[in-house]
Amino acid sequence: MIAIRLHPDKQSAAQAIAREIADLIAIRSESGKPTVLGLATGSTPLPLYAELIRLRREAGISFRSVITFNLDEYEGLGPTHPQSYRRFMEENLFRHLDIPAANIHIPDGLTKNAAQNCADYEEAIRDAGGIDLQILGIGRTGHIGFNEPPSSADSRTRWVRLDEVTRRDNSAFFGDMSLVPHGALTMGVATILQARRIELIAFGEAKAEIVRRAIKEAPSAGCPATWLQRHPRCTFHLDAGAAQAL
Ligand code: PGA
Repeated sequence: MIAIRLHPDKQSAAQAIAREIADLIAIRSESGKPTVLGLATGSTPLPLYAELIRLRREAGISFRSVITFNLDEYEGLGPTHPQSYRRFMEENLFRHLDIPAANIHIPDGLTKNAAQNCADYEEAIRDAGGIDLQILGIGRTGHIGFNEPPSSADSRTRWVRLDEVTRRDNSAFFGDMSLVPHGALTMGVATILQARRIELIAFGEAKAEIVRRAIKEAPSAGCPATWLQRHPRCTFHLDAGAAQAL
């Protein structure tokens, strides 16, 4: 079941989700429990991360009890690579918050044993008690995380080949398409669906058609975001552009 929440602009979407995260942290820390967040990269979650940083700076909210798991990482890119998702997260979120370094998890793009690294990642999520709230973007291929079509509902954290549409969409960050990796490690669809709450964010007309398909098409591996229809608590946060085909 997908709930739709229409926002007048990116900023109000960011504020609504940041407030939800802050409330969740407050409720869980009252009973001494950590809050486990699933995090995303790309341009879409940036206003949300800016808002979380503002809450830390201006409202003094602490993120010390937070444990994070990022969705994905490019194959072959390490923490010092400017386009690695590890570096993206450090610059745009982690270095501005007080999350203990040991609580931060991102698949290892430099691993020599992807299968083991991915199995360990699944185990770490289980050991943390599962993801309480997962932030998602959506790619124009219908990917969530880097689960490109076809991705089945029972897929787990694994190595994937990136779709050429995704490589082209992300090439702006790299400056040249030839520099965009061909593979990535990503949480699977089943891993994502196990999160207790999912907040997907999409902004702008370029996402309107894939948002429509994700909500209206029958769930299938051909459009992995359609699997979200099977989640009991999934909200799509949209601006007018992203909602225009609904
Ligand atoms: P974007 O990417 O936020 O840069 O549009 C979203 C995604 O590919 O999941």
